[in-house]
Amino acid sequence: MRSTKLFKEAQELFPMGVNSPVRYYSPEPVMFQQAHGSKAIDVNGKEYIDYSLGFGPMILGHADPVVSNYIKSQVDKGILFGSISENEIRLGTIIKNAVGSIEKLRFTNSGTEATMHAIRLARGFTGKKYIVKMEGGYHGAHDYALIKSGSGTMTFGVPSSAGIPDDVSKTVLVGQYNNIESIEKIFSEHGDDIAAIITEPVLGNMGVINPEKDFLKSLREITEKYSSLLIFDEVITGFRFGFKGYQDIVGIKPDLTTMGKIIGGGAPVGMFGGRGDIMDHIAPMGNVYEAGTFSGNPLTMAAGMATMEQLKGKDYSLVDNYAGRLEKELNSLISEYHIDATINRCHSMFQLFFNMGKVTDYNTAIASDAGKFTKMFHMLLDKGIFFPPSQFETEFVSFAHSEGDLEKTVNAFSSVLKCL
Ligand SMILES: Cc1ncc(COP(=O)(O)O)c(C=O)c1O
Repeated sequence: MRSTKLFKEAQELFPMGVNSPVRYYSPEPVMFQQAHGSKAIDVNGKEYIDYSLGFGPMILGHADPVVSNYIKSQVDKGILFGSISENEIRLGTIIKNAVGSIEKLRFTNSGTEATMHAIRLARGFTGKKYIVKMEGGYHGAHDYALIKSGSGTMTFGVPSSAGIPDDVSKTVLVGQYNNIESIEKIFSEHGDDIAAIITEPVLGNMGVINPEKDFLKSLREITEKYSSLLIFDEVITGFRFGFKGYQDIVGIKPDLTTMGKIIGGGAPVGMFGGRGDIMDHIAPMGNVYEAGTFSGNPLTMAAGMATMEQLKGKDYSLVDNYAGRLEKELNSLISEYHIDATINRCHSMFQLFFNMGKVTDYNTAIASDAGKFTKMFHMLLDKGIFFPPSQFETEFVSFAHSEGDLEKTVNAFSSVLKCL
């Protein structure tokens, strides 16, 4: 098969044949050649209904014609200026107007860069050294964040990467999501030296885990009490549940926010922003350094604007309802076939955990049968359904998913869960 031949070539070039670890699974990952709407087509010509959506960004579906046209017209005008351009202002304004806590912002090229700079800024602004993160929370692949991390690090069992100097990892304190006592304990020991808490408001990198009542509010209160900053990492959740951040849905104002994925419409992007007085500490006005040759580049800005301008008029209940109906159908199949599984959903994001109990934090997520998930993943793949390949990722629904997709997905699940 063409895919096998190509993957052999890829393995000669890239470690395990991939350019990001979670894309690898045995015997060989699907190799896509194109994608349109809710479907992706592999190099062997097989079509899949896509619930990975590039790990989240493609909320309008693939190759959306408006996004493609914006990008094409930008190509003719130039793809890199290395100086401020109007589209950066337009996209920045859209984000600022939509997200309550953002007064100033900077674009980066990835979510990883966004969280790295936000953490450095929090340290530079407060003059404090510790960062608190949640066990299993993922904030990208840099030294400040790869401590007891989620996503691919959980899939491959390297939650704390080798190669990070002890002096750096010791400055990251790890609490438990949905367990405010664990956070209070850290603050009671180190409170005066904590620059910030960083957390995804809804965890999306160990499956989907919703915040329990008042958890996020308590994070806000404790950071205020100790004059630390609260950073919401909304790389996944930004503009996923409505034309706003998750923070605007729950009415909690973080000091800094990071975003990525959707705001770039599928092009490489990240953003960090928040209180103006904090953001003014960024160079050249301030003494916290942050930079990027490609930051705010015209192609990303074009893809981002085309996506955001369309999203603004969208009825998000459509994607929420699709995910809700899928959840309901899957739950009936789970009962019918007596499967030990539970589904967590937040609007249009969901995950099926092979776990009898509720999944509310790292310990309950890790107790799931990840091997069974992998089995399900491969069986679904055979039937033309593409899920992200790990128990510790998230399924997404796009505005391009249709009634027909829903029906096919439920039918595929029916035969897969029956076999499991
Ligand atoms: C919550 C969160 N933060 C940060 C990142 C890193 O973003 P990127 O992969 O664009 O570097 C991710 C990536 O999945 C993420 O889910």
